[in-house]
Amino acid sequence: MSNQVKKFKIRNSKFILGNTLEQLKCLEAESLDMIFCDPPYFLQLTKELRRPDMTVVKGVKETWDKFSSYKEYDEFTNLWLSECKRVLKKNGTIWLIGTYHNIYRLGFHLQNLNFWVLNDIIWNKVNPLPNFKGTRFTNAHEVLIWATKSKKSKYTFNYQTMKKMNNDKQMRSDWNLKVCQGKERLKDSLNKTLHSTQKPEELLFRIILASTKQGDIVLDPFFGTGTTGAVCKKLGRKFIGIDNNPIYMHAAKRRIMKIKPIDTSDIEKIDTNNSSTKIPFSNLLKKGLIKPGEKIFNSRENIKATILSNGNLKFKKVVGSIHKIGAYVQNKPSCNGWTYWYVRQNNKVISINDHRNFLREATSSRE
Ligand SMILES: C[S@@+](CC[C@H](N)C(=O)[O-])C[C@H]1O[C@@H](n2cnc3c(N)ncnc32)[C@H](O)[C@@H]1O
Repeated sequence: MSNQVKKFKIRNSKFILGNTLEQLKCLEAESLDMIFCDPPYFLQLTKELRRPDMTVVKGVKETWDKFSSYKEYDEFTNLWLSECKRVLKKNGTIWLIGTYHNIYRLGFHLQNLNFWVLNDIIWNKVNPLPNFKGTRFTNAHEVLIWATKSKKSKYTFNYQTMKKMNNDKQMRSDWNLKVCQGKERLKDSLNKTLHSTQKPEELLFRIILASTKQGDIVLDPFFGTGTTGAVCKKLGRKFIGIDNNPIYMHAAKRRIMKIKPIDTSDIEKIDTNNSSTKIPFSNLLKKGLIKPGEKIFNSRENIKATILSNGNLKFKKVVGSIHKIGAYVQNKPSCNGWTYWYVRQNNKVISINDHRNFLREATSSRE
């Protein structure tokens, strides 16, 4: 594809147009909280596939999916996966997605590199493409592998959030979700599907909510139309997206620029089962990350409270924790104050959750 390298930044996130094998080498070691990888499938399609009405099915026939042999595909996989291991934080996790064409090879290399598999997930496609020729079963699912950097990693799993999303029942490893369609599916100037394998935002929504915290940095080394970046922006996570196709990268940028972050306090539960170290808000004061008397505000900056020296907040005459005051100002029964409040420091708006993550990292690296 493109040999040019171009980089573009929005707030704390980056778009990198270039070859992932080279660009991954430029990223800092142990700097990323989560990596989502949707690599070429190596489908080895030769013939055109047509529907019964003779229209052509948009399959993956692009050059990015072509390799001369399994040997070449394996070498490629091993190279990018090794780099992903280098750049992943020690408590970070990685997700791989694929079909029967490549998922077993991805899993083989992942385990050889001593990643530790936590789950495999079946994404059961509610609306799959039929097997038009009637020669095999309808291929109605993809497999995701979720793994930690090592067996000892203290990874993030937002158990309570997942349970809440699943009508208060434990989330299972089989997910029934639609393929990407309708308005969400990006189109080119001729109104044709822009990318043959654009993933649905709902899939990334679940993955990112399950395995990251607000302010975390997510890498997608095969960014395509930028689905990972779109969902990261919605959920208040930072991202780095790499793809070597300028058309996809341009479309991803345009898509993501239009996205507004959503208030996740209704979705994200404070996770008691999360293996991360607990950090009280008052620790941010003790460590000098925030100061008594400083103003604290919501993402729209239209609600402001004052930080008190004991770690409580004061809003008008009401005093309470970040969660209590967050709920009070929104007239809601509860609120995750960590994801609701921001401070301004050195002219930058910083989520207090970023400060918490910083302290967590500092604590866990001393353990
Ligand atoms: C399966 S698609 C990812 C689709 C993406 N998840 C989405 O939702 O749009 C794989 C992507 O990898 C990109 N790609 C393949 N080989 C690459 C390489 N060596 N460097 C950078 N990007 C590459 C392709 O351009 C393609 O967009």
